[in-house]
Amino acid sequence: MAAGIDRILQRGFDDYREFVNPYVSRRTELTGEPARVPHVQAGRIVDSTGHVFEDFHGTQSFGHRHPAITEAVREFLESDSPAWFPARVNPYAGSLARRLCERSGYSNVFFANSGSEAVEASLKLARALSRRPRVLSLERAYHGCTFGSCSLMSPGPFRDPFGPHLPGVESIPFADSDALAKALAPGDVAAVVVEPLQLEGGVRALPAPYIAALCELTARHGTLLVADEIQTGLCRVGRFLASDGWPRRPDCVVVGKHLGGGLLPISAMLTRRELFDRAYGKDFESAESHNSTFSGSALPCVAAHAVLDLLTDTLEARVQQVGERLRTELQRALAGLSLFGEVRGEGLIVGIQLKPSQHPWLSFEHFGMQEMAERPSIGPLLCHRLYRRGFFCFVCGHDWSVLRVLPRFNIELETVHAFVKAIGEELAFLCNLD
Ligand SMILES: Cc1ncc(COP(=O)(O)O)c(C=O)c1O
Repeated sequence: MAAGIDRILQRGFDDYREFVNPYVSRRTELTGEPARVPHVQAGRIVDSTGHVFEDFHGTQSFGHRHPAITEAVREFLESDSPAWFPARVNPYAGSLARRLCERSGYSNVFFANSGSEAVEASLKLARALSRRPRVLSLERAYHGCTFGSCSLMSPGPFRDPFGPHLPGVESIPFADSDALAKALAPGDVAAVVVEPLQLEGGVRALPAPYIAALCELTARHGTLLVADEIQTGLCRVGRFLASDGWPRRPDCVVVGKHLGGGLLPISAMLTRRELFDRAYGKDFESAESHNSTFSGSALPCVAAHAVLDLLTDTLEARVQQVGERLRTELQRALAGLSLFGEVRGEGLIVGIQLKPSQHPWLSFEHFGMQEMAERPSIGPLLCHRLYRRGFFCFVCGHDWSVLRVLPRFNIELETVHAFVKAIGEELAFLCNLD
């Protein structure tokens, strides 16, 4: 390993605690999360004691440091191509946009560096198009941490500390067509922003009748329909976009996460050329009025090209098959356990709903965390036990009673079986205490 990297790894974990965020470091100590991770091995992470973990966060959809993506980046670094284009006419962004459009059916792309920024771009597109004041999002949504995107969230820790929020933004009940119709009726809504399947909201897919109403009502009222596919896009649910096949293609879709192959930050807002022209095509100044310095710069685009090469039809089929298999095996292994609720999700997004425990030992209060007494405790306890079995799992940000499991697309079936066995045993252990 290069000496520079060695030096960083020796001190960097402690430096993080001191100079970045001490609370994150403390949280990982409290929960036992694998936090000091200096290596990867065959797509998995290896901590400083040599323990290997399967990462179910979902951001590294091809596993950590996929060789084809690493190789594409290396090849670029060995070339003499500019990495950044001062006139902004950037062939890497151009060719990536073409491929994204050919694959998705859209015709215009804006690149950004994070999911939140891509959501932000969709809000600005909606405002620039219509000048309407209101924007709707769904209860328990997660859209990011920039001002506009965090304004779209329901009241809670991601939103409350930062008011006053973007004016005109309203959260409406999840999957309630009547509430949607009522909110759209005045004709002053610029955009409705939805996740086809809410991940942080508890792995909740929008039901088909609601999607039909959403497509019809937004078209009728001239409201921009935005699908936030930061989690569901790019084959995560077994097709390129979760919104593929909706009765009407959303006017705008945002993708991110593994677009940069887990190596480089990049996100994209896809829309129709006609909408871009209407919003930004007035004159040369307006055409550049929404931009970002590193938007679509060469290196992340190179990684994204390598990602698109990997997102084949065969891979989509595998994601569907392995996802179904995982849900079926989980259902079989967990059925009958008193703390098990249900398994849900689509493709390689799996949600495991857990029931609350009545036993005081299994509460946050019992562990001296009074401030969290009202929070569901079984999900975090189960995660803790799974870390020790080599599986890095999480609970949903807005609903701690649901475990979210997003395996890498190339996960081996033996690893799937091992995870099902481990979670079955660990939940049974907690049920015995219940
Ligand atoms: C649905 C959704 N939208 C937006 C975001 C924000 O993306 P980022 O954290 O890259 O800004 C996230 C992040 O997890 C997300 O899950």
